[in-house]
Amino acid sequence: MPSLKKIGVLTGGGDAPGLNAVIRAVVKAAHNAGVEVIGLEDSFDGLIYPEKSRRLTPRDVTGILRLGGTILGTVNRGNPFLEPITTPEGTFDYAERVLEMFHRTGLDALVCIGGDGTLSISYEFFKKGIPLVGVPKTIDNDIVATNSSFGFDTAVSFAMEAIDRLHTTAEAHRRILVVEVMGRYAGWIALHGGVAGGADVILIPEIPYDLDQVAQCIRDRDAWGARFSIVVVAEGARPKGGQVSLLQEARGNQPERLGGAGMRVAKELEARTGKETRYVVLGHLQRGGAPTAFDRTLATRFGGKAVELLLAGQFGMMVANHPPDIVPVPLGEVVGKIRTVPLDYDLIHTARAMGVSFGD
Ligand code: F6P
Repeated sequence: MPSLKKIGVLTGGGDAPGLNAVIRAVVKAAHNAGVEVIGLEDSFDGLIYPEKSRRLTPRDVTGILRLGGTILGTVNRGNPFLEPITTPEGTFDYAERVLEMFHRTGLDALVCIGGDGTLSISYEFFKKGIPLVGVPKTIDNDIVATNSSFGFDTAVSFAMEAIDRLHTTAEAHRRILVVEVMGRYAGWIALHGGVAGGADVILIPEIPYDLDQVAQCIRDRDAWGARFSIVVVAEGARPKGGQVSLLQEARGNQPERLGGAGMRVAKELEARTGKETRYVVLGHLQRGGAPTAFDRTLATRFGGKAVELLLAGQFGMMVANHPPDIVPVPLGEVVGKIRTVPLDYDLIHTARAMGVSFGD
């Protein structure tokens, strides 16, 4: 295998705390191995538009470990293969243009940091001949074949802190407080954030809920004197036999946008219990801010491993957290799947044993 001289690094999909930590690790590890790194802005757009790429040296990544967001920018554009791309040089098929520009830029390989969307796009390019390694990122924790993705721990920590704050006001006013958290079609953030924050009810997509059950749980709490309740609702939670709440239907190459689950639960619980109820949507606050120590460490390990795999010529892989190791997993085993919360997860059993209602 010819030795690696120049690699590109890009971030795609929704941002997650820890992206900059991966970029920093990639740049430093590659530089120390004698490999030049090109930062590609706004995901694969960095290959398409020459003005969106720049050389990254250790000097450029010093001090970014603790920063949320991504110094490279990112886009969340659904399926880019469906639409042609227009540049000052003309209009091109998206995939052909990326391939052509990859070779024109003189890159030997890519590190693609992203969630299931970006990893799927990367896998397509790998099959078309681009040597690359994927790095799993998502606050949702829903990427298969890895025990965790960076960003999740930061999102959960924020949700926990928000729930802590809501506890005091809920208790003071003897209200129900409903907290809607992100997570798409998986309940990881709701479950972990809810348990860490001491929620009384946790509604997750994996367990469709019945609000009569939830209302009964709240009445029972009132009966023994609690008189307030915290209800955590995953944005992808839905009633038994019902649909998820949407802010926007899928259109064109854009997937549907979830939202409204918390408001829906709050309104119905107020009607059923007669208790004053308020709701809060944590939204993008869960994606912002500095990554936790866990996410910084995981992101750094992922970045270092990605460079190690490229140097070893192990392409078409995703780095994965299999404690105590970071291991390569073929991208083909990852794409097109999501990792939901298993119903036999011990955290569900323990929460139930402690009286937490899942609304079923
Ligand atoms: O996948 C991360 C995530 O934050 C989901 O939890 C959420 O449903 C979605 O992205 C929101 O996407 P956007 O930032 O495009 O509205």
